[in-house]
Amino acid sequence: MTDPSSPALENLLHEERRFPPSPEFAAQANATAVMYDEAAADRLEFWATQARELLTWSTPFTETLDWSNAPFARWFGDGRLNAAYNAVDRHVEAGHGDRVAIHFEGEPGDTRTITYADLQREVSKTANALGELGVSTGDRVAIYLPMIPEAAIAMLACARIGATHSVVFGGFSAEALHSRITDAEATLVITADGGHRRGKPSALKPAVDEALSKGDTPVKHVLVVRRTGQDVEWTEGRDVWWHDVVGAASEEHEPVAVEAEHPLFILYTSGTTGKPKGILHTTGGYLTQSAFTHKYVFDLKPESDVYWCTADVGWVTGHSYIVYGPLVNGATQVMYEGTPDTPDKGRWWDIVQKYGVTILYTAPTAIRTVMKWGEAIPNGYDLSSLRLLGSVGEPINPEAWVWYRRVIGGDRTPVVDTWWQTETGAIMISPLPGVTAAKPGSAQTPLPGISASVWDDTGAPVGPGGGGYLVLDEPWPSMLRGIWGDDERFKETYWSRFPGVYFAGDGAKYDEDGDIWLLGRVDDVMNVSGHRLSTTEIESALVSHPYVAEAAVVGASDDTTGQAVVAFVILRGDVIEAADATASEEDNAAIAAELRNHVAKEIGPIAKPRSILVVNELPKTRSGKIMRRLLRDVAENRPVGDVTTLADSSVMNLIQAGMSGGSTSED
Ligand code: WTA
Repeated sequence: MTDPSSPALENLLHEERRFPPSPEFAAQANATAVMYDEAAADRLEFWATQARELLTWSTPFTETLDWSNAPFARWFGDGRLNAAYNAVDRHVEAGHGDRVAIHFEGEPGDTRTITYADLQREVSKTANALGELGVSTGDRVAIYLPMIPEAAIAMLACARIGATHSVVFGGFSAEALHSRITDAEATLVITADGGHRRGKPSALKPAVDEALSKGDTPVKHVLVVRRTGQDVEWTEGRDVWWHDVVGAASEEHEPVAVEAEHPLFILYTSGTTGKPKGILHTTGGYLTQSAFTHKYVFDLKPESDVYWCTADVGWVTGHSYIVYGPLVNGATQVMYEGTPDTPDKGRWWDIVQKYGVTILYTAPTAIRTVMKWGEAIPNGYDLSSLRLLGSVGEPINPEAWVWYRRVIGGDRTPVVDTWWQTETGAIMISPLPGVTAAKPGSAQTPLPGISASVWDDTGAPVGPGGGGYLVLDEPWPSMLRGIWGDDERFKETYWSRFPGVYFAGDGAKYDEDGDIWLLGRVDDVMNVSGHRLSTTEIESALVSHPYVAEAAVVGASDDTTGQAVVAFVILRGDVIEAADATASEEDNAAIAAELRNHVAKEIGPIAKPRSILVVNELPKTRSGKIMRRLLRDVAENRPVGDVTTLADSSVMNLIQAGMSGGSTSED
């Protein structure tokens, strides 16, 4: 990994821009600088206080953390509570039943307004329906739904009866669904006929039928929401309609108080190799940290904010920052079913304007896509309600950060770059709005109560300016409790690289101020002529050039240098328009040469891409992550590997055609 003494590192950070909080924002912020001191003085007491303040316990806990069986943690172990009661009922009991919990916006333009009182009725009915379908405390339920309110309702209904949900993203195939159902031994699948995507209904039920036709699953029933009205195949005795079973169920349901360590959900995430890992999260610690971070990192004011997280509930961001964090905090939020470009590229900004969204949480890939479309589109809407912007999922390039704040945030809002993972359950490293002077591109500081560090290869902590591996060296409340059914893999994957501390799999470094910069997955770090380079840093440099909307960099094997930098770039819309519509290969070569020099200028000659290919699209998974593995295949002239997890598998054909067309620049 990164050698702290590498000359390449010294030039990497020259981000001078600072965005301190405005006095107005700081004066009203939930977070205060004192929180860092309080947590440092007594970390466990700090979390115990959060757990008491943010949650309602049916049996209060007396023990905060039991780490005696590390790495298997027990937080608040002798307490009991119910997640759905905390997310729904108690807000109704406190007199907020009329508060909107969810403003649902369907892609075709249909809307639903769901108050906390409505949510209590719907979740209770669904909990009763689950009971009628034979699901009880401790069972697993697979949820395979589009982004409709029933997704949140189904998750909460499981939590209400103490069943463990396993949400499978609606874009996953029948094969992926089958392996997840089998691994979790789910007895019920909740799905829909389909959802609306890019202007047309897209079917879901057929994938469930196919998954179950592979045999060998413990599934007894399939509960089907009617969303699109598509025709569906029906297996009598197994399949039941949501509107029949939930529709007829009683509105009265007593939530089941479970132990704090009761499994709340399993969420599968891909590892570097092998089958997906079922990341296990439990109840008390997970809810504490998701609510804590949602309140302080997003500065949530439940009475006045309209919060919108653009993730899908199929990912951890949807679990922690659409369902549990916001609802436990009594927030009003927007839930949107579709894509940002349906019916046109202004859809998101139309939604912000329509609902008066105040807090927006999205991903760098989305921000860069919006940048690519041009700022005239968001400028056509009134975005003045926004008061805080968040980013998650990958390192955000400083230029995208600054663009996000200027164009979407009106040069006014704090931007929080939040680092965390499926495994961490909730945000771990982020600026605190109203406290931290933000620095574009850096997630900066572990939150109060969180301990993170950067270690070198030998397990020694590095100092300011040094780089290495990100580790979490103290347990935290929302940490994963294991990999479902595979304790050995859990220990091996996360706790063996440096015994006793959690290995995040991300490269990181400290700048001279001691702020943390995430460098991407350690498997995306390249070694060029003995110098360690991050794909992320070179991508950042490329995106800081006015021509470039998006960039992906891979390390291709090279006889001379070990690895060489190969970059794939998408040009900005206005640059493409300004150029001759039939841009020649010479034009692209000139652009590539210009960009190579730009990278040399930004980082140093060592980081200069060997070749740069101008492309129209990058290969992305359905969750928006760039699949660098496929780009590496192209860069190394190999047949392209498995493309089945791509959102659009034709992208690779175009890129390969472009590569053989030779629109690259080489010395
Ligand atoms: C990356 C998503 C840099 C990182 C919540 C991590 C980030 C992986 C950031 C987890 C960020 C997430 N800056 N990198 N702000 N947020 N990542 O499990 O590589 O889908 O390990 O969880 O995304 O992805 P996951």
